[in-house]
Amino acid sequence: MGLGLSLLYFIVILGLGWIAGYLPFMKTIFGTILPYVALLLFLVGIIARIVRWGRSPVPFRITTTCGQEKSLPWIRQNKLDNPSSALGAFGRMLLEVLFFRSLFRNTKAEFKDNEKLVYSVDKWLWFFSLAFHWSFLIIFLRHFRFFTEPIPSFVTFLQNIDGFFQVGLPIIYITDVLILAGLTYLFLRRIFDSKVKIISLPSDYFPLLLILGIAVTGVLMRYFFKTDLVAVKEFTVSILSFQPIGSDLLAKLSPLFIIHFTFVCTLLIYFPFSKLVHLGGIFLSPTRNLANNNRMKRHVNPWNYDVPVHTYEEYEEEFRDKMIAAGIPVEKEE
Ligand code: HEM
Repeated sequence: MGLGLSLLYFIVILGLGWIAGYLPFMKTIFGTILPYVALLLFLVGIIARIVRWGRSPVPFRITTTCGQEKSLPWIRQNKLDNPSSALGAFGRMLLEVLFFRSLFRNTKAEFKDNEKLVYSVDKWLWFFSLAFHWSFLIIFLRHFRFFTEPIPSFVTFLQNIDGFFQVGLPIIYITDVLILAGLTYLFLRRIFDSKVKIISLPSDYFPLLLILGIAVTGVLMRYFFKTDLVAVKEFTVSILSFQPIGSDLLAKLSPLFIIHFTFVCTLLIYFPFSKLVHLGGIFLSPTRNLANNNRMKRHVNPWNYDVPVHTYEEYEEEFRDKMIAAGIPVEKEE
């Protein structure tokens, strides 16, 4: 059900992009209005999310602790897995964001011969997730050649490293292979692993399909069906400088590019409302970004207001006679 619905959404967007590629009227709308709507919704959505996160109370330090906390001097602390300082928390966060350190510990549980539950190491999810995320980032950064003039030097640097093996013409980028492999793995895992399938929703399949759509149309454009890159650059620069282009230039944009672009705009619109916001959420996650110094330092809930308390001394004072009569031990006899 989840997969069917996501496929339906995906096909509708693909169809709209396709039609827009051939119908001048729709092409004008998709090439001049859609990008601004997408950018606006993306920005407003992200800001709303950040404000909502920022306003959520975090009354306690709820750090995830996966190792020995700072204790007596002769007990060795695990400084990365249970950081007690801001520097330690920063180091843990850095390794998490750059290398998905906690996912590296991923294990799988399976029934062997239908009776024994066996746990084993599973690094594939970590490997393909990392491959996908890093490739996406590098591809995104490489795309700056379409957005700025002159082309920034880091783009040329990335292109040279990415095409290092110099295979094929145009040279095949390693990131193109890795992003397709990563996305395919992540998608097939949701279909063929019954344990993952049962917990998968349209909001799990759809982003994968959407990003696959972007990557596949991009790869088709680069290696199989050439598009007019000069026109693409004129198009993106004109949009970013708030001077949408005329219909003669729009006509030069290939239908495949319009599909690629439609998918990208959909991703922008969908992003703030989907699970993909984990991109920003990870940094604001109290289980990750706080040091575990709960025992070293008293953290008072900042939302605490004064409440009338009834201490034990006061309690005993009030009920001492009755406690003695009932044989309950008291601290002060008189
Ligand atoms: C989420 C953002 C995007 C992703 C993930 C993405 C992904 C890709 C991928 C994987 C390719 C294959 C070739 C390569 O790796 O360079 C590609 C090519 C391409 N993309 Fe994108 N793209 C994105 C946004 C855009 C945008 C905003 C534009 C322009 C408005 C664009 C225009 C193009 C063009 C023209 C090509 C063909 C490049 C060539 O022929 O060398 N892409 N894209």
